[in-house]
Amino acid sequence: MRLQDARRDHYRRLAKDQGYRSRAAYKLKQLDDSYRLLKKGYRVVDIGCAPGGWVQVAAEHVGPTGRVVGIDLKEVEPVANAIILQGSITDPLTPARIADALGEGNERSVADVVLSDLAPNISGMWEVDHARQIDLTRSALALAKSILRQGGSAVFKVFEGEFLKELKAEMTAAGFQKVLVSKPSASRQESSELYLVCLNFAKN
Ligand SMILES: C[S@@+](CC[C@H](N)C(=O)[O-])C[C@H]1O[C@@H](n2cnc3c(N)ncnc32)[C@H](O)[C@@H]1O
Repeated sequence: MRLQDARRDHYRRLAKDQGYRSRAAYKLKQLDDSYRLLKKGYRVVDIGCAPGGWVQVAAEHVGPTGRVVGIDLKEVEPVANAIILQGSITDPLTPARIADALGEGNERSVADVVLSDLAPNISGMWEVDHARQIDLTRSALALAKSILRQGGSAVFKVFEGEFLKELKAEMTAAGFQKVLVSKPSASRQESSELYLVCLNFAKN
């Protein structure tokens, strides 16, 4: 068995054993181990959240005093201590729906952390998929800008390719003081996916 297949199997088995809905849960765990993004009481928005692995991990970290709001095109089984919305990040009504869900029952409708693991339907044509994914990430960035608190952070999945450098610059221009590129080991090494970890948001 090739090393990457063995690694994929390892995380799939681990997810099954530990009750996570996706192998992807371990990518967020590893990103959090490296950057300490998720804390007790935090408000987290997770864009492109189905089947819910990242929502599970985020809900565990923020605990009952925090809040996690997830959104996806697909229906997602409920997760304890999280609010799940169904819809597209590209829908102009989505930011207000997310803000309402964050603010429900309290006066704070801002987020401490925005997570995006968005992936388009894969066409198999690498350039098309890269461009689509970057477009989706731009919608996630617009949402993050409107909803993050001063000093907040965000994680965006991106596909490697010609627009990545431009997108990284857009993250900096949006107000993130630090933009780091990370590839957690739970992410298949042969896949072109990377994560932009954006820290210390300055609202302007
Ligand atoms: C890789 S999966 C996310 C996995 C998730 N982080 C987990 O741990 O279970 C990417 C998701 O992005 C969603 N997605 C793609 N386009 C979207 C859009 N326009 N709005 C909302 N979600 C979208 C897909 O439906 C898919 O479920």
